[in-house]
Amino acid sequence: MINPHGADSLTPLYVTDDVRRSELEQMATDIPSVLITSGAAASAVMLASGYFTPLTGYMNIAEAISVASDMKLSNGLFWPVPILNLIQQQQLTDDVKNADKIALLDPNVEGNPPIAIMEVSAIEELTEIQKNLIIEKTFGTSDPEHPGVPAFADVGNHVLSGSIEVLNYSYFTQDFPETFRTAVEIREDIEARGWETVVAFQTRNPMHRAHEELCKIAQKEVNADGVLIHMLLGKLKPGDIPAAVRDASIRAMVKHYFPDNTVSITGYGFDMLYAGPREALLHAVFRQNCGASHFIVGRDHAGAGEFYGPFDAQIIFDDIPSDALEIEIFRGDWTVWCHKCNEIVMMRDCPHDNDDYFTISGTKQREILAAGEHLPPEIARPEVAEILMEFYQTEVN
Ligand code: ADX
Repeated sequence: MINPHGADSLTPLYVTDDVRRSELEQMATDIPSVLITSGAAASAVMLASGYFTPLTGYMNIAEAISVASDMKLSNGLFWPVPILNLIQQQQLTDDVKNADKIALLDPNVEGNPPIAIMEVSAIEELTEIQKNLIIEKTFGTSDPEHPGVPAFADVGNHVLSGSIEVLNYSYFTQDFPETFRTAVEIREDIEARGWETVVAFQTRNPMHRAHEELCKIAQKEVNADGVLIHMLLGKLKPGDIPAAVRDASIRAMVKHYFPDNTVSITGYGFDMLYAGPREALLHAVFRQNCGASHFIVGRDHAGAGEFYGPFDAQIIFDDIPSDALEIEIFRGDWTVWCHKCNEIVMMRDCPHDNDDYFTISGTKQREILAAGEHLPPEIARPEVAEILMEFYQTEVN
């Protein structure tokens, strides 16, 4: 199986030893604590799960700037997105300032239990220039209308860095017991299935017909033993379809339209950044960590609105050193419904013209549903359409 990123084996930071974990849980009640952001808590879950191998915790300012500017950790290893624990000035009490260890409290679970214990290496303050640089490099913009920028811009300027030991997987194990999996579990599953070539698919949407076909075309072209559908289970921007509804519709689609034992449906606990190209690189890193040999990047991957060109998230893979990643990228072209072929096609494989195409996107799917209209078969399988329409009729309208 493909190696993890920059390591011979995964380095999940979840404390598996029960005795050690209860000692740390006890310790968390005695040491200073800080309520962290949803993004930082999601990073703790990714670190716990082995997806962020070989990181050992949150970055300091120098490392975050090196990652933002040059996509390199301080040891020179490729890494595309700063992993920061940003807190507000008023959270920096004297206790916190003087602590060697701090309990990090989870904002996403009732009662804010500790999610991790941090060994504090530094507490630093970002200048406005440094913060803007990190945001501009990561998102390609500092526009406050960008759906991911406020999660960096509007949380404090104080950077709490250091290694962590993680006590739980936040709300993900409880809310998504069938779907949430760590990178360790996914590697074990791939091994157990006897798959060698595995093509991973990122999604934050219920899968429409273009998504389905993209997976099938990629599987065929790289001759994969299986497809790893790996969905985001964390926070989304308003208007995106919640993870539980997406999960149900993906399961319906796979059950009815993929051959048995060719798909593994799983998810990971991270909030969506909407960082387009940089997020695509991060997505590739953690799919390598979960043992996939190939990763699909299609049109407007991890994008939102008009912030990125439709294929920027593919082009960025040409700009990184050729040895940065071992995982291979499957680049998908626009996948559309062709009226002449009377089926879903990838545009580069179809002889017809733009006039013959009906474009499909998650945004279009959501707009149709929000208008209370029927999802046509060109966009969604009937079993998927039924689940989505029920959700919109009961929950949204
Ligand atoms: S994402 O934010 O998770 O990337 P989405 O779930 O819509 O959004 O996309 C999942 C994957 O499918 C991404 O690689 C994206 O580029 C690709 N994709 C979505 N729609 C199309 C389409 N119509 N044609 C080609 N690729 C697509």
